[in-house]
Amino acid sequence: MEKSFPEIVKGRRSVRSFTKEHISDEIIQAILEAAAYAPSSWGGHPMEYIVTKDKETLQNLAKCKRMGAGPLAYSDVAIVPIIDKRKLELWVEDAAVASTYLLLAAEYYGVGACWIHMKDRQGHTNMAEDDIKDLLHIPEYYGILNVVSLGYPAKPNKAHELDPVVHYEKY
Ligand SMILES: Cc1cc2nc3c(=O)[nH]c(=O)nc-3n(C[C@H](O)[C@H](O)[C@H](O)COP(=O)(O)O)c2cc1C
Repeated sequence: MEKSFPEIVKGRRSVRSFTKEHISDEIIQAILEAAAYAPSSWGGHPMEYIVTKDKETLQNLAKCKRMGAGPLAYSDVAIVPIIDKRKLELWVEDAAVASTYLLLAAEYYGVGACWIHMKDRQGHTNMAEDDIKDLLHIPEYYGILNVVSLGYPAKPNKAHELDPVVHYEKY
């Protein structure tokens, strides 16, 4: 049975350990298609994505950031959202919204995912963003906010129980 919208948003958790099962190309495409519909500044739909399944590349991506990128080495697929910074002042916001769509679409398709932050993070020698650009041959004028690691969850994750903090009318 299809997941409802509340089930998708409330059930999503960051997944950092994965089974060896591969995600089909159709599901990867469907996740990317969802992100294509993300709102964007000036309606420019500026996001581009690099998809990698290559084990060596995944391991090298994990090494691009000093801490917190480990799950990339064990993921089945990584999606690297990239954006031409020359086009848009609000590239960080555009990348963040599109990445959120990727995470929610992954949840819909039963795929585990995690946002691995890269912008302004130190790599082992250079900044993480620069190492990723070298690794994936991305032009210098592109921005990389994060990488999304994907795979089938190795274990079930407990949903959060969260309430919104809301101030009605005034603070
Ligand atoms: C801006 C941002 C940066 C994040 N960076 C990382 C990261 O570098 N590595 C990581 O394992 N998780 C990262 N996460 C995932 C968070 O740790 C995770 O969303 C948070 O702990 C809440 O858990 P949940 O996603 O399961 O609800 C990041 C999430 C966001 C939104």
